[in-house]
Amino acid sequence: MTPSPRSALEPTSPADLRHVGAFDDLAANYDAAFTDTAVGKALREIVWSHLDGSFGSCRRVLDLGCGTDASPRMLQVARQKARAGGCDTQIEFHCVAMESLARVTDGQSFDGVLSNFGAVNCAADLPGLVAEVARRLTPGGKLLWVVMGRHVPWEWLWYLLRGEWRKAWRRLAPQGVSWRGLTVHYPTPSQLQRILRPQFAIDRVSPLGCVLPPTYAAGWLERSPRARAVLTYLEKLVHRSSACAALSDHYIIEATRLADLPDEMPAGERTRGAWPR
Ligand SMILES: C[S@@+](CC[C@H](N)C(=O)[O-])C[C@H]1O[C@@H](n2cnc3c(N)ncnc32)[C@H](O)[C@@H]1O
Repeated sequence: MTPSPRSALEPTSPADLRHVGAFDDLAANYDAAFTDTAVGKALREIVWSHLDGSFGSCRRVLDLGCGTDASPRMLQVARQKARAGGCDTQIEFHCVAMESLARVTDGQSFDGVLSNFGAVNCAADLPGLVAEVARRLTPGGKLLWVVMGRHVPWEWLWYLLRGEWRKAWRRLAPQGVSWRGLTVHYPTPSQLQRILRPQFAIDRVSPLGCVLPPTYAAGWLERSPRARAVLTYLEKLVHRSSACAALSDHYIIEATRLADLPDEMPAGERTRGAWPR
């Protein structure tokens, strides 16, 4: 099968290169380090359990930071997987910074927008991205984003026990965290809801990785199926409590695009480039 002729797996502008270096080196090992771990599998299964509810009736879904995604190598892995699943002809892959959506989606509309496992945390301008995404979604269109949270007791405990107190608090840095040339931001669920509200009605916020530890702290769970089963059971139990989303490694936010969008705010009033502190 040939991939969709519109796919473009290489970056075409300097803006697209910013996140390429960060993730290209990780692509080959990304699934082994995350997706294929016991915790990674349990977390992905929980996300998948939401997808039908949000996107079951959608015909065109935009995935920001897709599959294993928008560094060229991450995209190649995503395309290989799509090919193996026999659906690559239905998917277009574009190696563009999500902040430059207009370059590849102009004139197109979508009825769903997904972003899985922290891709939007890397966006340079979240309010700008939300406004751009809302313009490209049909009224009633669905948004499901899996976002890295800000307050993570598991992370505090893990690093404090190792005496790495700077790492324990790193997500609290008001200016975000520098990582491989990117700045990664960690909005709380309330902060993200405030950013989404002008254009979206919030449907649900759910914790992900509240009882289960982050994968870097979960090697011991690979060797302990019993502990894994208990923590996975508890994770699914607290998953219904939106309050726990504020204390999770990730959280899932589901929202519906409003029928009418607010007028474009004049330049300067909209805090372009500003991330919540
Ligand atoms: C942690 S990975 C998540 C990948 C995938 N969605 C998943 O579920 O495993 C974050 C992804 O976001 C992409 N990314 C980061 N910043 C980006 C940006 N500004 N524009 C587009 N993609 C970006 C990275 O290349 C990477 O593939």
